Amino acid sequence: MDLNKNQLSQIFTPDYLAEFMVKNIKNLYLAKQGIESLEKIKILEPSAGKGIFLKHLITEGFTNITAYEIDQKLETSLLENYPDVKFEFANFLGSNPNEKFDIIIGNPPYLGQNYNAQIFQELVENYSICKKYFVGNMDLFYFFIHLGIDKLKPGGFLSFITTNYWLTKSKKTGIKHLKPHITNDCFMIQYIDLSKIKIFKDAKGQHNCIFVLQKKKSLEKEKILDKHIQIIQINKTNDSNSLDHQYNELLFSKILDNSNHNHIKKYTSGLTNADLSLQSNWNLLYPREVKEIIKQIESFCMKNKNLNLLGDYFSIRNGLILIKDEFFILKENKQIIFDRDNILIKINNRFTKLNPLEKKRLKKIYKSRAIKPYGYLTEEQEGYLLFFNKSDFEQLEIGERDIQISKIYPNLSNYLKQYEKELKKTLENANENRYDFYFPRRGSHIRQNRETGLVNLEPLYDNSPKIFFKFISQENIFGYALDQYFALSDTYFLWSKTPTEFSLIFLLAYLNSNLVAFLFKAKSLAVKRSKTKIENGIPLPALSKFKSKEKRSIIELIQLLTEWLVYSVNSFKESDVYKFSSQLESSSYLRTAENFTYKDTIIKAMNINDAKYIQEFINNLFYQLFDLDGNRIDYLIKEYYNV
Ligand SMILES: C[S@@+](CC[C@H](N)C(=O)[O-])C[C@H]1O[C@@H](n2cnc3c(N)ncnc32)[C@H](O)[C@@H]1O
Repeated sequence: MDLNKNQLSQIFTPDYLAEFMVKNIKNLYLAKQGIESLEKIKILEPSAGKGIFLKHLITEGFTNITAYEIDQKLETSLLENYPDVKFEFANFLGSNPNEKFDIIIGNPPYLGQNYNAQIFQELVENYSICKKYFVGNMDLFYFFIHLGIDKLKPGGFLSFITTNYWLTKSKKTGIKHLKPHITNDCFMIQYIDLSKIKIFKDAKGQHNCIFVLQKKKSLEKEKILDKHIQIIQINKTNDSNSLDHQYNELLFSKILDNSNHNHIKKYTSGLTNADLSLQSNWNLLYPREVKEIIKQIESFCMKNKNLNLLGDYFSIRNGLILIKDEFFILKENKQIIFDRDNILIKINNRFTKLNPLEKKRLKKIYKSRAIKPYGYLTEEQEGYLLFFNKSDFEQLEIGERDIQISKIYPNLSNYLKQYEKELKKTLENANENRYDFYFPRRGSHIRQNRETGLVNLEPLYDNSPKIFFKFISQENIFGYALDQYFALSDTYFLWSKTPTEFSLIFLLAYLNSNLVAFLFKAKSLAVKRSKTKIENGIPLPALSKFKSKEKRSIIELIQLLTEWLVYSVNSFKESDVYKFSSQLESSSYLRTAENFTYKDTIIKAMNINDAKYIQEFINNLFYQLFDLDGNRIDYLIKEYYNV
C-alpha cells in the first residue's frame, strides 16, 4: 500500500507540546508507580514521525525506547538522530500485541474512514487488530488506541494527543468498540481539553485533546474499582483559530509548574470512570463541584423518584409561520391606519374602513427581539397580524369558505385577494393546499395529548397568561404576557400539557432566576433551534419538597415579588405600589424577626421602581428554597464559566 502525505497524516507535534506530554506522563508514572530507575521503564512511540517525542523522552532520561514509523523516507534521519532507539520501520498495526510496555506516548495518525474506505479495507484484510475492531465511521487513530491498550502492561500508561470528537460521539457511530475497550481495560485518569487553542498549523478548525489512560490491574478489574478523572481545561478567550506557539508554550509550562493562570482550570470531572462505562457521550468537562450543586437542585425536583422536567408539563412550540410575512403583517401607517376607533386598510391604493368583526382579526404580533425577562417591549411590535383561524371554517367546503370569508370579512378578503396568486403559488411550491391561503401555515394549533386533541391557540395568544423565550439564546430570558401576544417562529411558547403544582408566575420567577442561569451554564442549555435540551434539561421543583411553613412562606413571597416585577417591567404606575405594599404586610416570611427589616427596603425599591433589587431578592429566596449558598454558586460561575 503506497500512502501519500495526507494519508500518512504527517502533521508533526510542536516541540513544546511533546515536551509537555513527556514530562506530564513521567510525573504521573513516577507518582503512581513509585520511583524506579528510568532505564527499566519500557517505552513505545507508535508513529514516530521526525522523532519529537523521542527527543524529549531521551532528554528526560528514558533509555528503553521502541518506535515505529511506516514512512521509509524518515528512516535515515531517525537512525542518525536517535541511534539508541529500537526502530521498526513498519506498520505499527502489524506489531506483536504480546510485547508489552510501561508507557505508550505519541501523536497517532488521524484518518477518517468515511473518505478512505479502501485503506481501511486493506488494513482489515492484513491486520488482526483492525479486523477485530473495525467499524464504519471510525478514525485510524482508534486502532492505535486499541493496540496501544493491548500492548500496555497492567498499571502502565498511554498518553495520546488526538482530535476530541470521539469523546462525545454516541454509540451507533465509530466509537462502538473503542469506548467499551477503554472502560473494560483502563481507567481514564487525565483529560486535557485543548479545544479552545490552536495547536497544529495545517489542521484548520481542528479541536484537540490529550488523554491519559492507565491499564487496569487484574485485581482492579475484578473488584470493579472506580477512579476520578482529572481535567485540565485551557480557556483561551481570544481567537482560537490563530496559532500562538509562544502563548501555548507559556500555558503548558504553567500546567507543569502547578502555578495558577487565569486561562487554566484544573478540576475533578463530575463523571467518574464508572460513569464512562454507562454513558456513550463522555461529557467530561463537567466539574464535580458543579455536579454536586446540580444534584442538590435536582433533589428538590423529584416526584415519585422521577425527576420533574419542564417537558413533562409543557410543550415548547414555535410561534406562527406565515405564507408571506409582508402580506400578513400589516404595518401602521402603511397598510393600515388607526383613526380614533376606526381602522382603515389599504386596498388598491385606497383606504377602506374595517367592520367590527374584521378589527378582531388583527392581532398584535412580535418578533423575538421584543422579549425581555417578565415581559416584552411593546415598542418592538412588528405590526398587526391578519389572522384567520382555520378551525372557524373547517365545516365548510372550499367554495363556501371563500364565500363566507368575503361575506363576514369583505375588506380583509379583498385585501388578501390582491396577493392571491402569489400566496397560492407559494403554497403549491411547498406542496401545501393552495386554498389555504388565508391562514398561517403553522403555529395556530398544537396537538397536546390524546384527551385534548388539537388545541386552538388563538384564545391563548389573545388573552391568557403565557411564557415565551427566544428560539436562539445563551441566557435564560423568559418573557411573559397576560394579554394579546402573537409571535413569529423565532419565539418559543410554553403551552401547558398538564397542570403544574405551582402557579405560572412562580415558574416564571424560577425560569428567570439565577438558579436557572446556573443550570443553563452547567448543563450548557443554550437555546439553539432544538428545544429538547430545554425540555429535558430544566428540572421543575416538586411541591412536596417544600412542606415546611418557612418554605411555603418563601414561595408566597416569590410570587408576590414576581407579580410586582411583571407590573413594573410592563407598565409601571406608582399607584400600584400601594397594592403590593399592603400585600407585603401579610407576608409571613417578612413577619419573622430576622427578615422584618427587609419589608421597608422592598417597599423602597418598589417606590423607585428598582427591579434589579427585587430580582436579586428573588434570586436569594430561590437559594434559600433549595438550601443553597448563593456565594458558592457565584464562585462556581466565576470559576468555571468565565463571567
Ligand atoms: C500525526 S504524525 C505524528 C508524528 C510524530 N509522532 C509527531 O508527533 O510529530 C503520524 C506519523 O505516523 C506515521 N504513520 C502513519 N501510519 C502509520 C502506521 N500505520 N504505522 C506507523 N506509523 C504510521 C506517519 O508517517 C506520521 O509520521
